[in-house]
Amino acid sequence: MTDTAKLILDGTTYELPIIVGTEGEKGIDISKLRQQTGHIALDPGFANTGSCRSAITFMDGEKGILRYRGIPIDQLAERSSFREVAYLLINGVLPTQKELNRFSVFLNDQSLVHEDMQFFFQNFPRASHPMGILSSMVTALKSFYPYLEDLEEETNITVTRLISKIRTLAAMSYKISRGHKVIYPRPDLTYCENFLNMMFDSPVKPYEIDRDVVQALSIFLILHADHEQNCSTAAVRVVGSGRVNLYAAISAGVAALWGPLHGGANQAVIEMLNDIVKNNISLKRIVERAKDKTDPFRLMGFGHRVYKTYDPRARIMKKMCDIILEKLNIDDPLLDVAKELEGIALEDEYFIDHNLYPNVDFYSGIVLRAIGIPTNMFTVMFAIGRLPGWIAQWKESIDSPDGKLNRPRQIYIGPTEKPYIPVDQRETVSR
Ligand code: ACO
Repeated sequence: MTDTAKLILDGTTYELPIIVGTEGEKGIDISKLRQQTGHIALDPGFANTGSCRSAITFMDGEKGILRYRGIPIDQLAERSSFREVAYLLINGVLPTQKELNRFSVFLNDQSLVHEDMQFFFQNFPRASHPMGILSSMVTALKSFYPYLEDLEEETNITVTRLISKIRTLAAMSYKISRGHKVIYPRPDLTYCENFLNMMFDSPVKPYEIDRDVVQALSIFLILHADHEQNCSTAAVRVVGSGRVNLYAAISAGVAALWGPLHGGANQAVIEMLNDIVKNNISLKRIVERAKDKTDPFRLMGFGHRVYKTYDPRARIMKKMCDIILEKLNIDDPLLDVAKELEGIALEDEYFIDHNLYPNVDFYSGIVLRAIGIPTNMFTVMFAIGRLPGWIAQWKESIDSPDGKLNRPRQIYIGPTEKPYIPVDQRETVSR
């Protein structure tokens, strides 16, 4: 295979290096393109642009492969815990038992949040979306923990603090939104157990921790833990490239995740399925609307920028829906509708031609509903899961020798130079 690509511009031939990744992915290095040719590359939506070299997550959208640090997602979902996956993503290797125990102790040590943070929650308007609150609270953490992040040890504390406290903040916001007493983290509980207990324990109705629910939550978080250069991760890397503190970079990730085309899709899917059930809407009609180019409606939970086949996470999530609903003895009509809708879409020519398959969000909401998470907190759950990935990607970008300030270029298509017109002449002179 050739190791350079040739670009001919105005009769001059330029040689551009070919970069090959460990899984055989090929790219053309255009980092000197403008310097050498005076031209830039234009790629709206970045579908053809690699923004970095990364050793964290590999995905093959054609084959439906997803691996964290080389380990297939199905093996991690089946055998690992969210804590362990967080360690793996951030440190690059699976922890030894001793390292895992140490990490758990650190997470436990960091799980409380400053008592004054409760006052912030109380002053958000009642109807605030939890993602807006979470993004603000993550930024606010910097004011409560304003330590330097120059030393590796300090960075490690900040990392553990974020992973631990995001869970406490999410549960606190839920309790406060319901006007209920905040439940504190407990040292005897694991990461997922603690979250569920902080969400659902109450002085009048103690929460009984169910192993199956803990397992379902752990798998949900593992499946969301990283997904290479997606919208929110790219936001974390771009914002982080300005050498902002980690809290602010993560807050940018939370904000990016909120959108319905990205993490907000899990909430949008449940709203869509609910609407179908409540208003008895024909599934054929839904699919027709999704295909209609004059209608902005899209089939939520379908399609993906990279996967052009079944999202491997959706496959695991679908299986989990069946398992958890059966174990908890729940009959959720939304699951039947989702399966039927999937069947119709997968046989439809438009969906086949466009390579549109269910993504992770199509079934995840049904699992979250089953374990008692309110719909408006679904995207918060995604954020808790994605946090280790954001941190790993931020760390990699900061430590990378190519770690420059991210600053794309543009092709300007506005007016060419024209003079300033004083206000009293604007009626008469053409603007
Ligand atoms: N329903 C109907 N048509 C769709 C859908 C959908 N869900 N998704 C894509 N298409 C169509 C588009 O209309 C377009 O058709 P055209 O080429 O005939 O004009 C074509 O497929 C390509 O769509 P794009 O928006 O250009 O593809 P892109 O890669 O930018 O979009 C995205 C990916 C945003 C995920 C899209 O599939 C979508 O909007 N899906 C619904 C929202 C969703 O589920 N988001 C969660 C994604 S997973 C995640 O972020 C965790």
